[in-house]
Amino acid sequence: MMKKLIEVKNLSVDYVTFEGKVRAVNDVSFHIGEGEILGLAGESGCGKSTIAYALMRLHRPPALISDGEILCDGRDVLKMSDEELRDFRWKDTSMVFQSAMNCLNPVKTIEYQFWDIFDAHNVVKTREESIEKAKDLLRIVDIPTERLFDYPHQFSGGMRQRVVIAMALALKPRLLIMDEPTTALDVVVQREILQKVYQLKEEFGFSILFITHDLSLMVELCDRIGIMYSGQLVELAPSKEILSQPMHPYAHGLGDSFPTLHGELQEMKGIPGSPLDLNNVPQGCRFAPRCFHASDVCHRAKPTLESSGEQRWVACHTPLEIQSVAQEA
Ligand SMILES: Nc1ncnc2c1ncn2[C@@H]1O[C@H](COP(=O)(O)OP(=O)(O)O)[C@@H](O)[C@H]1O
Ligand SMILES: [Mg+2]
Repeated sequence: MMKKLIEVKNLSVDYVTFEGKVRAVNDVSFHIGEGEILGLAGESGCGKSTIAYALMRLHRPPALISDGEILCDGRDVLKMSDEELRDFRWKDTSMVFQSAMNCLNPVKTIEYQFWDIFDAHNVVKTREESIEKAKDLLRIVDIPTERLFDYPHQFSGGMRQRVVIAMALALKPRLLIMDEPTTALDVVVQREILQKVYQLKEEFGFSILFITHDLSLMVELCDRIGIMYSGQLVELAPSKEILSQPMHPYAHGLGDSFPTLHGELQEMKGIPGSPLDLNNVPQGCRFAPRCFHASDVCHRAKPTLESSGEQRWVACHTPLEIQSVAQEA
């Protein structure tokens, strides 16, 4: 069994707005193993980024963590002091987010921005040492070291994103969170970057939480995938199984909505209905109004995520039979 690096237990996050409280993440539990790549997928607005930010305690008002625990090696991130948190943020986990490549400081050289990180965490004594370390990091993301003294605008989008990844790895974090890290890039560059990240992960052994709406990319990269619907984790399974043998009707629908990179050409069906209005959450299962497999109980009672076989978890009163779905496909 893989050792658990991060454990999220019954996490709930609310956005407190003038119209009232909106529960964007509702009672979500999962873990990330050491060296594991866990994917989080689901429609836009289902709470993926809210989880990512909460994990690093980077959430800001109106977001409020209302319940739950986030454990890193058994330490509760939600109870860490400011100082502990500062170390946790770069040394234990770091994050590359969607528009990260635009988050580099435009008026400072890359060299300065590396120095800023190393200096703030007292990991170097001199500027020369910082330059050497920064060059090593540029090398691992395949950027020529003489580019260290350039400004962000002198790089292409793909290169900037690689610089950001190098910075995220600067203090050798044990978990790298990537929230739609390559969405702004073209497909070829996207693939190159993710391949590089995978190589680095193999070399350094860190874990990854990979968030994207691109399921085919996710299946290729991840060990396990969690599917979210409307703030809830509805299914968690090995990535090879989640689309080919989904148990949750929503995961089944998602699989039908995405083209696979390999394999036979299939008709894409989509999921009828539209995502849930979080201000108006039904009493039972949140997916029930759109579910082709729902029964009475689904409209009455909220299902909880329960183990359903090795490495498989599903939150559904009427899960699909694995075999019958496989035959249907
Ligand atoms: N600043 C905010 N104020 C109010 N609601 C928000 C805010 N940010 C996000 N939300 C709500 O939280 C839900 C989850 O958002 P998010 O985590 O960004 O989803 P995802 O990353 O899956 O697209 C959305 O329904 C969104 O409306
Ligand atoms: Mg998001």
